[in-house]
Order: sequence, then structure tokens, then C-alpha cells
Amino acid sequence: MKKIASFFILAFTLIVISCGKKTETDPMGNPIEEVKATSDNLGKELFEGKGLCATCHKPDTKVVGPSIKEIAKIYKEKNASIAIFLQGESEPIVDPSQYEIMKANFAVTKSMTDEELKALEEYMLNIK
Ligand code: HEC
Repeated sequence: MKKIASFFILAFTLIVISCGKKTETDPMGNPIEEVKATSDNLGKELFEGKGLCATCHKPDTKVVGPSIKEIAKIYKEKNASIAIFLQGESEPIVDPSQYEIMKANFAVTKSMTDEELKALEEYMLNIK
């Protein structure tokens, strides 16, 4: 009797696990990661890699710089462009008093292509 019970528990667990996996795929059965826009992946890659942005910007909490969500909120409200800011061509609108710290990163971002800057902007505006 005990064996049967544990068999059902095991079977149930497997069903739950496989259902859980299903939510990570699109209707075609492809993993969500793969169908995401490439610019989104590029943005994340740049943000966490070459750009070193993640050292100072976390999604929800202020570390050295304002959180990504706070920046995204303000840029959306003001309909401003992060890509243009990162080229050093617009004024800071989130926390001008700390601008000097952020400015040092333009050495990296100014060498990025328009596509890379756009990808960074997309990533920040769409952070979950
Ligand atoms: C050394 C820490 C540091 C790093 C690394 C850093 N930032 Fe920042 N960032 C800041 C600080 C501090 C501010 C607040 C000053 C300001 O608003 O300009 C800021 C502000 C910003 C803003 C808002 C600017 C505004 O209008 O006020 C954006 C957008 C931004 N960072 C993007 C980035 C991106 C993209 C990277 C990576 C290429 C990056 N940051 C790397 C510290 C950093």
C-alpha cells in the first residue's frame, strides 16, 4: 500500500514539474529565451558585460546609481532617449547631482554603435 502511495506522489510531482516547465515555452514549444528579440538579449549582455552598468544599476534598488526601474520610469514620463544620453548629448534628468559618476561611463558608451545603444535602452525600459 505504501509503495502505491509513494508512486502516486512521485507521479504527481513529475506532472507538476513538467507543467511548470511548460510555462517557460511559447505556444510553439520553443523556450521563451530563444524567441526574445535579439536586441533585448544584446542589451542585457552589454548591460551586464562590456558596459559594466550592472555594477551600479540594479533592477529595483538604488546602489551607486538609481535603479533601472526608476530610470525607466522617468525616461518614459519625459519621453526622453537613453541612447542619446549615453552619447553624452543630453542633460541628466534622473539625478543630476550624481552626474559626474555616471559621466565616466560615456568613455565606454560613446564607443558603442547606435544598435548597441538602442539595445541598452530597450533593455532598461523593459526591465521586469
Ligand atoms: C560607477 C557607477 C555607474 C556605472 C558603472 C554606470 N552608471 Fe549609470 N548612473 C550612475 C549614477 C550615480 C547615476 C545618477 C546620475 C545621473 O542621473 O546622471 C547614473 C544614471 C544613469 C542614467 C540616468 C541618467 C539621467 O538622465 O539622469 C542612465 C540612463 C544610466 N545611468 C545608464 C547607465 C548605463 C547604460 C551604464 C553602462 C554603460 C551605466 N549607467 C553605468 C552610476 C553608474
